[in-house]
Amino acid sequence: MGGLFGAVSRSGANVVPSVLEGLKRMRFKGYDGTGIAVVEGGVLEVYKDAGWVDYVAEKLGLDRLTSSIALGHTRYATHGRPTAENTHPFADCRQRVAVAGDGAISNYERLKDRVVMGGHRLQSRSDFEVAAHLVEEELEKDRSFTEALKALQGALEGFYAVAVLDRDAECIGAFTQATPLYIGLSSNTLYITNTLPALYGFADSYVAIEPGELALLCREGVRVFKEGREAPLKPGSPVDVDPSLVEKGGFQHHMLREVYEAPYALLRTLSSVQEKYLQLAARLVLGAEDVYIIANGTSLHAGMVASYYLSELVGISPVVTSAAEFPLYYVENVSPGSLVVAISQSGETGDVLSSLYEAKLRGATILGVTNYIGSRLARLSNVYLPIAAGPELAVPATKTFTSTLLLLYLVALRASREAGKTDASTYAQKVSSAREAALRLAEALPRVDEEAKQAVKLVRGCRGGYVVSRGITYPLALEAALKLKEAAYFHAEGVEAGEFKHGPFVLVEEGFFTGFIVPVEKLSAEATYPLIQSAAEAGASVVAVGFEGDGRLAEIKSERLAVISTPPAERHLAPIAYAIPLQLLAYRLGVELGRPIDAPRYLTKAVTR
Ligand code: F6R
Repeated sequence: MGGLFGAVSRSGANVVPSVLEGLKRMRFKGYDGTGIAVVEGGVLEVYKDAGWVDYVAEKLGLDRLTSSIALGHTRYATHGRPTAENTHPFADCRQRVAVAGDGAISNYERLKDRVVMGGHRLQSRSDFEVAAHLVEEELEKDRSFTEALKALQGALEGFYAVAVLDRDAECIGAFTQATPLYIGLSSNTLYITNTLPALYGFADSYVAIEPGELALLCREGVRVFKEGREAPLKPGSPVDVDPSLVEKGGFQHHMLREVYEAPYALLRTLSSVQEKYLQLAARLVLGAEDVYIIANGTSLHAGMVASYYLSELVGISPVVTSAAEFPLYYVENVSPGSLVVAISQSGETGDVLSSLYEAKLRGATILGVTNYIGSRLARLSNVYLPIAAGPELAVPATKTFTSTLLLLYLVALRASREAGKTDASTYAQKVSSAREAALRLAEALPRVDEEAKQAVKLVRGCRGGYVVSRGITYPLALEAALKLKEAAYFHAEGVEAGEFKHGPFVLVEEGFFTGFIVPVEKLSAEATYPLIQSAAEAGASVVAVGFEGDGRLAEIKSERLAVISTPPAERHLAPIAYAIPLQLLAYRLGVELGRPIDAPRYLTKAVTR
């Protein structure tokens, strides 16, 4: 998984400097490893190492390379730790082709068995290495490079984009299954990348490669194949990117880019999680005498949602606590039969790690959930699950939150299946609902963002406020309040809806913001609509977040009410569907108030101490 940037010169000129520069513009795609495949004197060479491009380029002297064809990659580790061997590109056994990819190959285990049985030597634990050996198998049958790529396209499943450099044909072939992939066109050079803004200044125009298409970039030009036949190259569009935003992927802030990436990150999480590890995690949950979920901040809110999942789907009520509280009161009760589920997107949060040391000393089993598999959390865990959301650079956590929710839901669902409470077909149906929910969110995002901008007009003058919800979306109220603080320096509190009239309501008046997340439990929702009405009548600026087509919300008529609607989702997926509008509300308010959104004062991405 990561950033891809390849180039083929039509005039024989050296393309290595442009490929290295392209990689430097893709830090947000990954920085666990950097590699480049080149052809020097007719020999395919792959230079790669763990680490960010500047470090690897200097260490390996990459800027001294000369090649008229090159395929570069900057890695975000999901399958295999951040090491040189697991860094892309991967060569086949005969050193003829090199492969680099983004996303995840979901049938990797099966393909791996196939190539190993065929006598190939795998050098890494990356899911993309199999692609190099699959191409090699086809080339050994005297198939052309194009035919070999078509066979590869038929073999790979999942959510990915892949590029293959062939030393003999001197071409790069590429195709995608849902993740973006672009051909960059200029008079002298052809480019391939999964990050459009990286083409700025190199390509004059670009063409997006659609799923089902296969692109071949050679010295002679570009060829595109669709459903097995050659198809005309679509007209190019200009590479129109604000130069100052190139390193943020063309977005004004990393936070905004990351919210827009969230639906795709969900698809990546789904394709990356391996059933055997999910099963292992589920069995740990079912076999534990007691379960503790520990985390901080946004990850703690994800852990709170997980307790609803486990309670309802598995019949287990875990203790959910801040990792800062855990060593004070809970750790005393931890024993060798305990399972500690530690959630940390960075995997480096100090309180999580120190709690884990203590839990381990008492013999507990640790199930880690992290976005960085090279982190200390992953190393300290008996079993870890990668969140696989891709690097998150903005301090306010967004796409890692939604992907964490999904991963924890999958663990609970799998445990429910293992316990015989969910049958195999319901399980499969729920997993495919998650995929559909992600696709609906991707489609709805621009509209949701527009509604968030409109809602901000009501909120911007307020002195602070509440976000209110109940049931499985209550932790979302806490999370929304946290995002409003971080991204907008706007004081907000999360309130459980049943508690609203036990005190908090006293502050609700003109100049006070009151946000509502319409609960997904029917009775709780029924009880919430009148609260929304009362808050508006009390003069507050009210923002209600509900599902599209919520007729009860539409009936509430008030100039003081703005509605943000999100695509309907199954009850357990509602926290994911709701998270995105709430993140956008906080983001848009931060923009309106001129806050330093990506780097709020006093905060760091990983609170190590
Ligand atoms: C929220 C945020 C923090 C983190 C918290 C835990 O947007 O950035 O509250 O969620 O510091 O971080 P991780 O998940 O890395 O342990």
